[in-house]
This record gives sequence, structure tokens and C-alpha cells, in this order.
Amino acid sequence: MASKDSIAKTITVATLLCVVCSVIVSTAAVLLKPAQVANKELDFKRNILSAAGMLEQGVKIEEQFKAVDVKIVDLSTGQFTDSSAVGDLARYDQVKAAKDPSLSSPVEDDIAKIGKREKYAKVYIAQSSDGKEIVVLPVRGYGLWGTLYGFLAVEGDMNTVVGLGFYDHKETPGLGGEVDNPRWKAIWPGKKLFDDQGNISIAIIKGTVDSAAAGSQYKVDGLSGATLTTRGVHNLIHFWLGEEGYGPFIANMKKGKA
Ligand SMILES: Cc1cc2nc3c(=O)[nH]c(=O)nc-3n(C[C@H](O)[C@H](O)[C@H](O)COP(=O)(O)O)c2cc1C
Repeated sequence: MASKDSIAKTITVATLLCVVCSVIVSTAAVLLKPAQVANKELDFKRNILSAAGMLEQGVKIEEQFKAVDVKIVDLSTGQFTDSSAVGDLARYDQVKAAKDPSLSSPVEDDIAKIGKREKYAKVYIAQSSDGKEIVVLPVRGYGLWGTLYGFLAVEGDMNTVVGLGFYDHKETPGLGGEVDNPRWKAIWPGKKLFDDQGNISIAIIKGTVDSAAAGSQYKVDGLSGATLTTRGVHNLIHFWLGEEGYGPFIANMKKGKA
């Protein structure tokens, strides 16, 4: 009898413990959700400012982000469009939109391996401390292990790179993960995206660029031991600069008619 009692008690205590623990975990998940969303948003903004070369240590991100104008671009026409096209501007997520058939279309020449491309992109426009216009374009594309998500920042000429950075990827630390290495990121500013005829000319090459060689302004060192990630980054940049990406928008901006 005594042993039966103890089994029943053990089961009761174990069940109660499970219920109490699951209530604590669920409550924590629900309570922490808003903080997680806010942190993700801050990190997103931090990455935009970083690509634009505007990130200042010790100043609140929200404060710094006030200098950034958020606009919606219709990628087919390359024109700025009223933000009502995407509903709530602050909440519009173009990566999510790309998964919605009513807000996206299949990519024809899918060199970035993204499958579908959103109709509307959110672009970020800011003024640098020396008064230059900076346009930050969200970009994404497949590396070796998954999709890299980031920002390409360019000057108002839509040709000179200000910075490139990724806020999310699955590449291996020390190999493809070197896309986050500040030394590699420091190679990008000043590089040119298009040649004089307007062809996309930026290229990530295998090895190290000879800075004295002709055309070095279009070339970026590849990451050693990470040829596949490097190719992915090269391809995603080419996709987003092309006709199915920001090509029409870039052309309009160059003419001052976006
Ligand atoms: C565990 C493991 C992780 C790897 N991660 C990456 C990676 O993140 N990006 C990449 O391009 N190559 C990665 N590679 C290497 C690729 O398989 C391939 O060998 C490499 O891209 C070739 O680059 P290389 O021509 O510069 O040597 C990884 C290999 C192994 C075994």
C-alpha cells in the first residue's frame, strides 16, 4: 500500500511540476516577445546605419535613425511609390512579402536563388555627415548553407559603394562567415558598381585584387576557403543591381526621376 501511495504521489508531483514549468516557460515567451521584436528591429536599424557608414557608438540607434528616410519603391517601374501600397510602412517586411503570391512574382533569371521577388522594396535614404546622399538597398541571396540577408549602401550617384553588410546568414564562421569580418567589409567602400557604359561591373574575384591594375575599382578580394559563399555574394549583388532587382530604380535615380 505504502509503495502504491508513493507511486501516485510521484506521478502527481511530476505532473504538477510539468504544468508549473510549462506555464512559466509560456508566460516568459509571451512576455519577452515584444522585447525580442524591438531588439530585432533595433538590430535591423543598426545594420542599415552600419552599411551607410553612419553608425556612431554611444548614440541611441533610434536617435541616429531619425536621419534616415524610409521609402517604398515599386521594383517593376523603379519609381518611389506611396507607402500606402504596402499598408503600414513600419511593419512592411519585404522578405515576408516575397512569400506572398499577391505581393511578389517568380524570378526569371534567379542567380541569387531567391525564388520569388517582392513587388515593393523598402529603401533607406540618408545624408552622410559630409552632406552626401546615401541610398541603402536591402539585398539577399543564397550562399553555401542558406540565404544571406543584408544591405548594400551606395552614394547618390548610384555607383559608388558606401558599404555592404549582412545581418543574417548561415555561412560557416571562419569560412563563409568572414563576410562579417570588418577587414573584408572595409574593402568595399569606394568600389564602383557600373562601368562607363552602365554595365554591372563589380566582381568578387578569387584571390587578392592588385590595386594598381586596371579595373581594380570594380574588384573585391574573394574570401579564401569560401569560394561558394563568395560566389553567392557576387551573384546576389548582380541580381539586385539588375533588371529584376533595383536596376530600373537605379536608372531612374541616375536621371533624377525616381
Ligand atoms: C564544415 C565545412 C564548412 C564549410 N563552410 C563553407 C562556407 O561557409 N562557405 C564556403 O564557401 N565554403 C565552405 N566550405 C568549403 C567548401 O566546401 C569549398 O571547399 C570551398 O568553398 C572552396 O573554396 P576555395 O576554392 O576558396 O578553397 C566548408 C567546408 C566544410 C568542410
